[in-house]
Amino acid sequence: MRIVCIGGGPAGLYFALLMKQANPEHHVSVIERNRPYDTFGWGVVFSDATMDTMRAFDVKTADQIEVAFNHWDDIEVRIKGRRMRTSGHGFVGIGRKKLLNILQARCEELGVELVFDREVESDQEFPESDLIIASDGVNSRIRSKYAVAFRPNLIDRPNRYIWLGTRKSYDAFTFDFRRTAHGWFQAHIYKFDQDTSTFIVETTEQAFLAHGLEQASQDDSIAFCEELFAEVLDGAKLMTNARHLRGSAWLNFSQLTCGQWSHFNGTSHVALMGDAVHTAHFAIGSGTKLALEDAIELSRQFRCLGDTKENIPAVLAAYQEIRAVEVMRIQNAARNAMEWFEVVGNRYADTLEPEQFMYSLLTRSQRISHENLRLRDKSWLENYERWFAARCGVAIDTDAPVVPPMFTPYTIRGVTLENRIVVSPMAMYSARDGVPNDFHLVHLGSRALGGAGLVYGEMTCVSPEARITPGCLGLWNDEQAVAWKRIVDFIHQMTPAKAGLQLGHAGRKGSTRLAWEGIDQPLEADNWPLISASPVRYLSNGQLPREMTLDDFNQVTADFVAAARRGAQAGFDVLELHCAHGYLLSSFLSPLTNQRTDRYGGSHRNRARFPIEVFLAIRAVWPQDRPISVRLSCHDWAEGGNTPEDAAIFARLFKEAGADLVDCSSGQVWNNDKPVYGRLYQTPFADKIRNEVGIATVAVGAIFEADHVNSIIAAGRADLCAVARPHLADAAWTLHEAAKIGTNSVPWPKQYLAARSQYETNLARDAAARPKSPAP
Ligand SMILES: Cc1cc2nc3c(=O)[nH]c(=O)nc-3n(C[C@H](O)[C@H](O)[C@H](O)COP(=O)(O)OP(=O)(O)OC[C@H]3O[C@@H](n4cnc5c(N)ncnc54)[C@H](O)[C@@H]3O)c2cc1C
Ligand SMILES: Cc1cc2nc3c(=O)[nH]c(=O)nc-3n(C[C@H](O)[C@H](O)[C@H](O)COP(=O)(O)O)c2cc1C
Repeated sequence: MRIVCIGGGPAGLYFALLMKQANPEHHVSVIERNRPYDTFGWGVVFSDATMDTMRAFDVKTADQIEVAFNHWDDIEVRIKGRRMRTSGHGFVGIGRKKLLNILQARCEELGVELVFDREVESDQEFPESDLIIASDGVNSRIRSKYAVAFRPNLIDRPNRYIWLGTRKSYDAFTFDFRRTAHGWFQAHIYKFDQDTSTFIVETTEQAFLAHGLEQASQDDSIAFCEELFAEVLDGAKLMTNARHLRGSAWLNFSQLTCGQWSHFNGTSHVALMGDAVHTAHFAIGSGTKLALEDAIELSRQFRCLGDTKENIPAVLAAYQEIRAVEVMRIQNAARNAMEWFEVVGNRYADTLEPEQFMYSLLTRSQRISHENLRLRDKSWLENYERWFAARCGVAIDTDAPVVPPMFTPYTIRGVTLENRIVVSPMAMYSARDGVPNDFHLVHLGSRALGGAGLVYGEMTCVSPEARITPGCLGLWNDEQAVAWKRIVDFIHQMTPAKAGLQLGHAGRKGSTRLAWEGIDQPLEADNWPLISASPVRYLSNGQLPREMTLDDFNQVTADFVAAARRGAQAGFDVLELHCAHGYLLSSFLSPLTNQRTDRYGGSHRNRARFPIEVFLAIRAVWPQDRPISVRLSCHDWAEGGNTPEDAAIFARLFKEAGADLVDCSSGQVWNNDKPVYGRLYQTPFADKIRNEVGIATVAVGAIFEADHVNSIIAAGRADLCAVARPHLADAAWTLHEAAKIGTNSVPWPKQYLAARSQYETNLARDAAARPKSPAP
């Protein structure tokens, strides 16, 4: 085959040498616009795992790279005069120039034709090629030319960064955070050869502009950074090797994905590789790794399917199919890490204490969890757990076992929860006339026995017309209040848990069938009329709601107040106002469902007016020493709908009105919403609201392991974690998760104690039998 790689970065060079090494008959060229020893950028990092993969494909390059590597284990975080360290993180760094030179030399040795100093204008310059690799970097000319085929999605991120070097050598991957009059700057610093370190400085666009860096020359920018980071530089100078850049040396990172990775141009197959097809932010240092692994996978496919030109289409299809999955995984982690650095100044640097700030930094990609940190640096993590527990008022002497963050107590107003686990509200559709029965007693009672700190009943409706289905629970009469009190009394008398009441009104999503008879579908008979912010249906075959009038406002508010009074008398500890999921109060908040032109529609304040009026009315009758939470849909996941930015505005309004907690759910407002599901997928909303608005939050959604809860609570992303479906599968979820992580910080009910040690022994036996997995 005739193969041309346009661009001699890591992707093009490595692919060229792998193909030539596999079959010397191939004619392989690499065309690079720079000269062999020119390069932009300093050192790059990658992991031991990348090295192992490279070794399997070309031992010689792997050996040479390994010799040139600098390996280090520690991460140091500097902020507000503090220097904190943790170990066990295992990085390797290498100069970009050194890496390219090793790859170039190996290409020459194998007979790859290397052409330098030639700028390729078009792939049509190589009509005789069977395969053209567009390895021409993030600004790929070839990708732009065939944009219709490749479907690139290129997003410029808001932060600015400058990639510098210094002759000071650091013995840890160092992050230094500095506050200026106009905002925070951070430096990412890592050594990559005996006497040189990469020094990337990053800040927000606003701080960049406020400091006049847009007009600054490279020398001025360097002088600015040297002064700002004087302490960590300790007299060393900063250097640039990007003098070729026109305009500002402060760049915006471009986040790139492509819908299609290859294209036939009429004479040759053109395949994208490396930064030309995807980017991963330097916050997790994986761009070079991805470029090298692309090269490995494409060459591996030729080995598997046959390295002749007839096989190229099949090879390219397999290449994209396999690589796209791994790339998406890394890009997700890189995006989390990148976003952390974008919001660090607004969200964490001023508010979190240095210890928690460091924990948040270490878990920024959400791939490193609490237990991963334990594998990396046990003593650091245990010290952190002690620090965290002490902050929560748990007195711990140094010999006692540490209390994991999820089992620390949490006090809101006069209510102290024993731990951070909440049984999330879940409709059971099992009531008649809204009255709780034996099912509800056993269901909620057993979950309270199961160890959670707070157990919510399902959405409890404030009137018969407020129900979602005929099976929903209510609190509009005394019979219901008496039945609820029996459940609350059981929880209080038999368990350490607290009882939560979620009050709601179904609005336009009411008068529907029981979930298992057709969720959200209108009743076949006996429908009741619906009200909502505006006459907007939920389902196209659903009932059209009537726009609420002022009389309706008064009636609904009175219903909420009466239900809250009854709830207080029944003894509930915590009240939650349901303003999520498209139900009545939520229908006011979303612009998709609120089309009013009066003072209850339009601006955020107007849309929040009625939900806040209800909130203030229930706050006035709910005992002052008991908290009220508000559940919000923090993302409508639909065009034109609310986003997390809007949710933060609503959270601020509820905070001003006296709310104690925001329970951060999302979606179910608009029938065709498109949520992006995944592990902990709604936790970023709780994080944003907690740390930007300054109100306690509940994280919920796909939280299903103790490790998730510990990571969220320890990082200060939320104050409580609500767990729903796992509690349907396992009433004693909390006790079982505690046993899995080997803590005895949560008491078992005395009636069940006989089972505890057998359960724990069996778990320990299973764990011992499993092969040990290394830290990721
Ligand atoms: C600040 C910063 C820090 C980074 N840190 C890390 C890190 O720590 N770890 C890590 O793994 N990655 C890191 N990266 C990412 C890494 O640099 C890239 O992901 C990697 O270099 C991609 O390799 P590539 O071969 O696809 O593209 P590139 O390295 O960009 O190579 C493309 C090549 O194509 C050439 N070229 C472009 N157009 C033409 C043309 N028309 N004709 C001829 N030649 C052309 C260019 O001159 C260049 O040599 C970092 C990136 C940045 C910006
Ligand atoms: C069967 C079921 C019923 C639910 N009912 C309610 C409810 O009454 N009120 C509410 O706010 N959320 C309700 N939810 C949503 C959950 O409280 C929770 O937010 C969601 O299931 C995500 O958490 P999970 O991933 O732990 O299940 C319900 C969820 C399920 C599975």
